[in-house]
Amino acid sequence: MAIMKNRSGCWCVHFTVCLIGMLLLPLPSQSSDPDPLQDFCIGDTKSALSVNGFPCKPAANVSSDDFFFDGLSKEGNTNNTFGSLVNQGNVLAFPGLNTLGISMNRVDLAPGGLNPPHSHPRATETGVLIYGKILVGFLTTGNVFYSKILTGPGQMFLIPKGLVHFQMNVGEEKALIFTAFNSQLPGSVIVPRNLFASKPSVPDDVLTKAFQVEKTVIDEIKSKFGA
Ligand SMILES: *[C@@H]1O[C@H](CO)[C@@H](O)[C@H](O)[C@H]1NC(C)=O
Ligand SMILES: *[C@@H]1O[C@H](CO)[C@@H](O)[C@H](O)[C@H]1NC(C)=O
Repeated sequence: MAIMKNRSGCWCVHFTVCLIGMLLLPLPSQSSDPDPLQDFCIGDTKSALSVNGFPCKPAANVSSDDFFFDGLSKEGNTNNTFGSLVNQGNVLAFPGLNTLGISMNRVDLAPGGLNPPHSHPRATETGVLIYGKILVGFLTTGNVFYSKILTGPGQMFLIPKGLVHFQMNVGEEKALIFTAFNSQLPGSVIVPRNLFASKPSVPDDVLTKAFQVEKTVIDEIKSKFGA
């Protein structure tokens, strides 16, 4: 067996030693945010320091209120283009989540409302239907579309990390879902806004070629997003 190098960079001369060494080493992490190094770290969101997350508020300044968030308790105003509103309970709104690797959103959907195709680059998502009737779907990297209509309170769905997905209210009444993420700041790439309302904008040539349409079509879509 030739000398080979394993992931830790040590040189192994014996195959079995090398194999055991490789098995013991952690695999590339599939989880999202890293584990905290302390009980909590209420984000000091005003800090000028730039780190992966936020520095911690001094412990003496921490109170019970730092562990509560009222921002998902009110119905969102869905009177907008998409007929939906996402209220985010991420670390920016709820600094107590800092370093803890989780967050939640509230999604209100008017009848016919759509939470448009989007992805969360840093998190897997689970969601629970509270009321209403929604179509949930996601697309894989192999362009397979998986979807389901949820009709009962408490029914749950799953969106694997980073995949493009949507929720649409297909019922006659309002719909409400709560979603949860394994990241304090999952990030949202809203596909139509990303492509057609970026600043500065993506060149028309790129979009006409990508979508195989005339520039007038691209201009029309861009105008819908005020771009
Ligand atoms: C902590 O509390 C002190 C005293 O009230 C205040 O001056 C300081 O700005 C607070 N720091 C943070 C990060 O909240
Ligand atoms: C919805 O928004 C439009 C324009 O923003 C406004 O004219 C209309 O009155 C609103 N409707 C309701 C029910 O709030």
